Amino acid sequence: MSIIIAVDGTAASGKGTLAKRLAQHFGFAHLDSGSLYRLVALGVTEAHGDPASEADALAAARALDPARRYDPAIRSRAMGNVASVVSAFPAVRATLLAFQRDFAARPPGGLKGSVIDGRDIGTIVCPDATAKLFVDAAPGVRARRRWLELSAAGAAPPESAILADIEARDARDRNRPVAPLKPAPDARLLDTSDLDIDAAFAAALALVEPSVENALKALAKG
Ligand code: DC
Repeated sequence: MSIIIAVDGTAASGKGTLAKRLAQHFGFAHLDSGSLYRLVALGVTEAHGDPASEADALAAARALDPARRYDPAIRSRAMGNVASVVSAFPAVRATLLAFQRDFAARPPGGLKGSVIDGRDIGTIVCPDATAKLFVDAAPGVRARRRWLELSAAGAAPPESAILADIEARDARDRNRPVAPLKPAPDARLLDTSDLDIDAAFAAALALVEPSVENALKALAKG
């Protein structure tokens, strides 16, 4: 039995950063499940396919190489938007499920647990996760943070364009019939609108630590 922390949340809510820090804190493996959907988006784009075509998206999902998930090409705004479109196809989601569940069941490196972030980790991928977080922040706050990040990295689109992307993506992710973005009934909610990253991490840790510590003790007892 391995320990699983599910971190779901809205676009640009900071869930990825929190998941990474939680993984470092506990010495667990980290999987950004959004990177898999972004790889499907990249695959469709590279094949000059149509992201609105289920057949094209499915072909990219079947050909996906998860080892490419650190490819910087998937981090663009365009890939985020296309990922949100291809992720609505049930067959694409079904194709990516086995990799995610296998990662959770057998974290790489023989680690005791994993932290997986996404949209449906607590609801569909790992409904029996040890601890579940749902991270959100006001759309304007998320747009501002993303704009500051992009500005620091070089060129940023106007903040209003980032806000429009975020709102469109959330609406699409929330309203799809299969595995929509929503908190699992037993997820702990974390609104980071008024928190900086250190305060958000402290709050996230306080929410998941009791269940994770219990699970670690149970593992140690065998
Ligand atoms: O977390 P992200 O912004 O990298 O995700 C990109 C898109 O992928 C997101 O808009 C919806 C989709 N996604 C999903 O449907 N399910 C997940 N578990 C993770 C991401």
